[in-house]
Amino acid sequence: MYKFILAALLLLVSSPGLAETPAARGKALYMKVGCYQCHGTVGQGGTAGLRLAPDPLPWQQFAQFVHNTAGIMPPYREQALPAADLKDIYTYLQTIPKPRDLSRYPLLAPFR
Ligand code: HEC
Repeated sequence: MYKFILAALLLLVSSPGLAETPAARGKALYMKVGCYQCHGTVGQGGTAGLRLAPDPLPWQQFAQFVHNTAGIMPPYREQALPAADLKDIYTYLQTIPKPRDLSRYPLLAPFR
C-alpha cells in the first residue's frame, strides 16, 4: 500500500502544473502578460509604471484597477486576464520581500 502512496506522491510532485505554487504561476503570468514591462520584473516600478510591491494595494482595489482602469495603463479586462490569474499575480507580488534597511550601512548615508 505504501508503495502505491509513494508512487502517487511522486507523480504529483513531478507533474508540471500540479506542484506549481500560485506565486510561481503568478510570476510566470506577470512576465507573460507584460506587467513587468512597465512595473519592473519584481514590481519595483520604473519610468513607465508605479511600484506595485512590496505591500501591493488591497486585493479588491488591485483587481478593480487592473480590470477597469481608463488611465495611461491599458485595462486588462476579465476576459483577457481572468480574476483567478490576476489573483496568482497578486499572490506573487505579495511574496516580494521588503528591501534591506540601509541604515545598517553608514557608507550609504549620503545616498539616503
Ligand atoms: C503600458 C504600461 C503598463 C503595463 C503593461 C501595466 N501597467 Fe499597471 N500601471 C501603469 C501606469 C502608468 C500606472 C499608473 C496609473 C495610470 O496612470 O494608469 C499603473 C498602475 C497600476 C496599478 C495601481 C497602482 C497604485 O498604487 O495605484 C496596479 C495595481 C497595476 N498598475 C497593476 C498592473 C498589472 C497587474 C499589470 C499586468 C497585468 C500591469 N499593471 C501592466 C502602466 C502599466
